[in-house]
Amino acid sequence: MSTQTDQFKKVISHAKEYGFVFPSSEIYDGLSAVYDYAQNGAALKNNLRTYWWKSMVQLNENIVGIDAAIFMHPTTWKASGHVDAFNDPLIDNKTSKKRYRADVLVEDHVAKIEAKIEKEVEKAAKRFGADFDQAQFKSTNPRVVAYQENAAAILKRLGQSLEKEDLADVKALIEELEISCPETGSRDWTEVKQFNLMFGTKLGASADTAMDLYLRPETAQGIFVNFLNVQKTGRMKLPFGIAQTGKAFRNEIVARQFIFRMREFEQMEMQFFIPPGTQQKWYEHWKATRLKWHLALGLGKENYRFHDHEKLAHYADAAADIEFRFPFGFKELEGIHSRTDFDLSSHEKYTGKKLHYFDPERNESYVPYVVETSIGLDRMFLAVFSNALTEETLEDGSVRTVLKLPPALAPTKVAVLPLVKKDGLPELARSIVGDLKWSFETTYDEKDAVGRRYRRQDALGTPYCVTVDHQSLEDQTVTLRMRDTMLQERIAINDIKQIVGAEVAIEKLLRKL
Ligand code: GAP
Repeated sequence: MSTQTDQFKKVISHAKEYGFVFPSSEIYDGLSAVYDYAQNGAALKNNLRTYWWKSMVQLNENIVGIDAAIFMHPTTWKASGHVDAFNDPLIDNKTSKKRYRADVLVEDHVAKIEAKIEKEVEKAAKRFGADFDQAQFKSTNPRVVAYQENAAAILKRLGQSLEKEDLADVKALIEELEISCPETGSRDWTEVKQFNLMFGTKLGASADTAMDLYLRPETAQGIFVNFLNVQKTGRMKLPFGIAQTGKAFRNEIVARQFIFRMREFEQMEMQFFIPPGTQQKWYEHWKATRLKWHLALGLGKENYRFHDHEKLAHYADAAADIEFRFPFGFKELEGIHSRTDFDLSSHEKYTGKKLHYFDPERNESYVPYVVETSIGLDRMFLAVFSNALTEETLEDGSVRTVLKLPPALAPTKVAVLPLVKKDGLPELARSIVGDLKWSFETTYDEKDAVGRRYRRQDALGTPYCVTVDHQSLEDQTVTLRMRDTMLQERIAINDIKQIVGAEVAIEKLLRKL
């Protein structure tokens, strides 16, 4: 088994064992690509959402937040293009009866070529040592150049075929590349077909009056249909943004990779309304701003890259993904899309209502353009969680599992541990918990030896442990133990709140933006 698969398996089992993510309705054997967030997962997810929300709504005078309903008038999805164009190309393998996204099969093939490039680079870096110039190597080494050209040509052809809806050519490409079913190795493929990803449902009780609805496949449309309401009631001037977080639903063909691709998931989206002609500037601005938001978490600059889209969605004139190095390779984490006036104009057409903005500076009225930032909260969770899960071999040879979450995101900020369960130590520890819990998430634990309790908190990602011992009763001091360094410091009980509080506050992250 590859180390990547190994690492990913560890992520999934750690998430379950320590109460972060459970398969949905597990006692009924689960439901494919649907997951529940457990006691620690819900807290981590809330913290991520708060970090995003505050960075958008609290820090920007010209961005406001809303919470629109999941159910929307069905014509919304006609106007947005989802009824006609929200399709994925699917292909079945006749032997294995497995269903795949045709574009993903090709992209996975390209990822293998990219992995070969990385291997060549690694080998060369070892060979040349300190003198190694990666950029020069990549542009001159014949084998690497050939790999790169091949990968680019494949992606270009895939993009063009999808753009033209030439599904026969997508199949031809799969055959030419000799792509086989990842499970069985069979190359016996069906034709490629389009498959709409929206879930349908019904509103109303009686069969004849019930209205066909869709579960929203993105939160963005809840923002577009409220554009004028928010602009007028908030007296907003362009440029301004509307942010929203909430559930979205997609009947994904291939739902795999744990919470990376789910059928029910949560998005955090912001639509930034701008004057036409300024989209290039704002598109660049939001690309840079969003990358900064990610980098502030300290997960490593080398784990992010931009990927500019070859094939644009039906609404976009430019689009890029921020990709993250997940345990299974670089994959999309967030999208930044220049959506032009597509959505508002289309809603105008379908409703007959004007969605114009009067610009006092230009002295004209127009349909605003939009640059959107759209990130999956579950994918963000997976990025942070998988990056944080670390195994360290200690001096005594034992292995320590530690979840090195950014402190501001950790479900519990401090665990208070009486050294022993007697002599008044539990009482003092509980009184410390009683005081700290007003400021941040604090837990009490008296079970097992203190070393084992430290390990458990390490695995949960708790950045600080406070240990109450006999000396604490005499001089009102405790031991503060740091998760990442395992260093311990004697501090006054009265100082805990200030020392820990400053490190675990979301403000600490926000100040880096
Ligand atoms: N409003 C634009 C939009 O929805 P998208 O690229 O389809 O764009 C945006 O989705 C983000 O939502 C993705 O970058 C990803 O993080 C997340 N996302 C999309 N589909 C998902 C799924 N099936 N499971 C989990 N997250 C998903």
